[in-house]
Amino acid sequence: MLWLHVLYSVALACAYKPLSDSFLKAIPDAGVDLDPENGKLLAPILIPRVPGTPGQSIVQKHFIDFFQTELPKWTIEWHNSTAKTPATGNKDIPFGNLAFKREPPWVKPGQSNLLTLVAHYDSKLQPPGFIGATDSAAPCAMLMHVARSIDKYVTQMHDEMAALNEGGSVEMDMGVQILLLDGEEAFVSWTDTDSLYGARALAESWETAMNPAMSKYHNPNRQISIFLLLDLLGSADPSVPSYFPTTHWAYRHLASIESRMRNLTLLESNPRHPFLPDTEGAMYKGMISDDHLPFLARGVPILHVIPSPFPHVWHTMDDDGKHLDMATVRDWTKITTAFALEWLDMMEVWYEPEGAAVP
Ligand SMILES: *[C@@H]1O[C@H](CO)[C@@H](O)[C@H](O)[C@H]1NC(C)=O
Ligand SMILES: *[C@@H]1O[C@H](CO)[C@@H](O)[C@H](O)[C@H]1NC(C)=O
Ligand SMILES: [Zn+2]
Repeated sequence: MLWLHVLYSVALACAYKPLSDSFLKAIPDAGVDLDPENGKLLAPILIPRVPGTPGQSIVQKHFIDFFQTELPKWTIEWHNSTAKTPATGNKDIPFGNLAFKREPPWVKPGQSNLLTLVAHYDSKLQPPGFIGATDSAAPCAMLMHVARSIDKYVTQMHDEMAALNEGGSVEMDMGVQILLLDGEEAFVSWTDTDSLYGARALAESWETAMNPAMSKYHNPNRQISIFLLLDLLGSADPSVPSYFPTTHWAYRHLASIESRMRNLTLLESNPRHPFLPDTEGAMYKGMISDDHLPFLARGVPILHVIPSPFPHVWHTMDDDGKHLDMATVRDWTKITTAFALEWLDMMEVWYEPEGAAVP
């Protein structure tokens, strides 16, 4: 009995099992919740939300209210900092990163590895009234929907593993966190010090925050199994290359999900080429400056989902709700949801519907 149990656990721990077709078909559409006019996830973010202005607090409250009411099992952590900016002189501008996290209930601090899904929620100071729908209101709303869609499977996984007494082996101690970062944008023009205010503060504080002495992972940066950063998403016909050889294998999983979902006609958009065309990894484009940099510098594996070239609306007043391509927004949301479920090994809790073909 014990021997069998050990074998089963090892197999479970090593599996990276693609979601079945029936599971892909069951991935929920965000539907009207991502509507830019009155969708309850996205519409409240489509306001100017420059750090230190009222819009910043309104949007922070929107995220917190959502998790508190709809996803009460997720923990909420603030990571606050202040900095001076070249546009605001001697004033200390507040930056508030938010981390929403679900870990298996049995883990001790520093024990879980965390799928980390990231977007920034601040908007640019200039031009006045800039909305930043792709940059990155839509990615934030996508991640809210992802959290909501994976929640019941995470609960089921935790319950089943706890019942089998399986927690505690490192590979299986998987959790998920969503980082909504502040202060990504430059206040005047992009430099090392005028940009990435929130990400720089967070990566630095996590590097020096020691987990308890016997922890598997030394500090919170080490707990990040992959840092999946969504940015500038929501315009039609995006083309996202593979940026890092070290995470190209994960890019391929994401691209394969897109391809399978298109073949199953689960996606709505009809782009000229796949969103994720670079399955050969031939490009490995130069680095784009974004919130991943302070984490990359500390050895965190990065999967950067940002189109190249950038959307035409980038950093203009046209980057608003009206210019979003909603089919593309919904498709990114489904692809990301599927990736999260696959990463978290949710085939373990998926039961094929009766009559479905088993591959
Ligand atoms: C961080 O800042 C927010 C917004 O100002 C505030 O509500 C929150 O209490 C602060 N949290 C911590 C831990 O400092
Ligand atoms: C999707 O369909 C195309 C065209 O039939 C095929 O080349 C491709 O391999 C399929 N993708 C997957 C992941 O099955
Ligand atoms: Zn921007």
